[in-house]
Amino acid sequence: MRVLSGIQPSGLLHIGNYFGAVRQFVRLQEAGNECFYFLANYHALTSLQSKQEMERLTWHLAAGYLALGIDPERSVFFVQSDVPQTTELCWILNCVTPVALMEKGTSYKDKVARGLPANMGLFDYPVLQAADIVIYDADLVPVGADQKQHVEMTRDIAAKFNRVFGEEALVLPDAQIVPEVAIVPGIDGQKMSKSYDNTIEIFQTDKRTKKRCAQIVTDSTPLEEPKDPEKCNVFALLKLFATGEELKEIAGKYRAGGYGYGHAKQRLAELINEQFAEARYRYAELEKNPNEVRDILREGGRKAREAAERTMQRVRSAAGVVRHH
Ligand code: ADP
Ligand code: TRP
Repeated sequence: MRVLSGIQPSGLLHIGNYFGAVRQFVRLQEAGNECFYFLANYHALTSLQSKQEMERLTWHLAAGYLALGIDPERSVFFVQSDVPQTTELCWILNCVTPVALMEKGTSYKDKVARGLPANMGLFDYPVLQAADIVIYDADLVPVGADQKQHVEMTRDIAAKFNRVFGEEALVLPDAQIVPEVAIVPGIDGQKMSKSYDNTIEIFQTDKRTKKRCAQIVTDSTPLEEPKDPEKCNVFALLKLFATGEELKEIAGKYRAGGYGYGHAKQRLAELINEQFAEARYRYAELEKNPNEVRDILREGGRKAREAAERTMQRVRSAAGVVRHH
C-alpha cells in the first residue's frame, strides 16, 4: 500500500500531532507499507510569513519526525518545496476544481473567522494538498479527524480530473483516521492545537511538561469529594498514556474521593516524560548534528521528485501539456 502524509512546520510538535498523526505514520511504516512523509512548508506559508520562524520550525519538525521514529531507510522523508512538480500539479488541478467546492472548506472558513487574512494561498490550500497526495499515487492518507474533508476534496478533484481528461490518470486516496484518538484535547479541553495555545509540546524539558500539566483546566471539586473521571480533561489525557490497569485504578480513586486533580496531573506529567524520554534524547543528538538531518532531507527529496515526475508525465500527457525541453 502506498501511504502518504504531511505535517505543516507551523508550530512545535505537540501530543495531538503525535497521537493523531505521527504515531500512525510510524505504525504504517513498521507494517511494511511504502510510505511518503513530508513537511508541508508551502502550506505553512499560507499563514507563517517569517523567514526565521519558517527555517526554525522546518528544522524542528524534521528532527522531531526522525526522533519519533520516521526511518529514512524505510520511508521517503522530504520537504514539500523540494518537489516543484507539486506546485505544477496544483495549477493543473486548480483548472478543474470548482470554486464552489473550495467555498465549502471548513478549515478555510475557520481560519478566516479566527482572523487570518484570506489570501489566495489559504483559499487554494486544499488543492495544493490534493496535489501532494495524488502526485505520489497514494492509496492511504493517515491524518487527524480535522483533515477528513481535505482528503474527501482530494478524491473529488482527482475524480474530476479523470472525468475531464478521460483517462484514469490519478489514484483516489482514502483517509485513515484512528477514532479513539481522533481529537486529543488541549489543556483547556478544546482540541489541542498550536493555534489555541493549549498544547503540551513533545520536545520540552520534564519541568516544562510538568508545568503545562499543572495548567490543565479542571472544575473546582474539593480534594476530599468524589469526582467523575469521564468529565475531567486530565483523565482524558491519561487515557492516552496510562495502561488499562492503571487507568482503572485512577478512575477508582477519582470516584472514591480524597484524590485531587493535582495528583492526576503529576502522574500525567510523569507518564508523558517517560513516554518521550527516548525521542527527546534522539532529538538532542540530532541538534548536535544538523547536517545529518539535511542529508536525509536531500536524499528524500531526490526520491520524491522521481516518483512525482513519473505521475506528472501521465498528467501532462492526459491534459495535452506538451513539453519542449
Ligand atoms: P494544529 O492543529 O496544532 O495546527 P496541524 O494542523 O499542523 O496541527 O496538524 C498536524 C497533524 O496532526 C494533522 O494530521 C492533524 O489532524 C493532527 N492533529 C493536530 N491536532 C490534533 C489533535 N488535537 N488531535 C488529533 N490529531 C491532531
Ligand atoms: N493540511 C495538513 C494539516 O494541516 C497538512 C498536509 C499538507 C497534508 N498536505 C498534506 C496532510 C497531504 C496529508 C496529506 O495537517
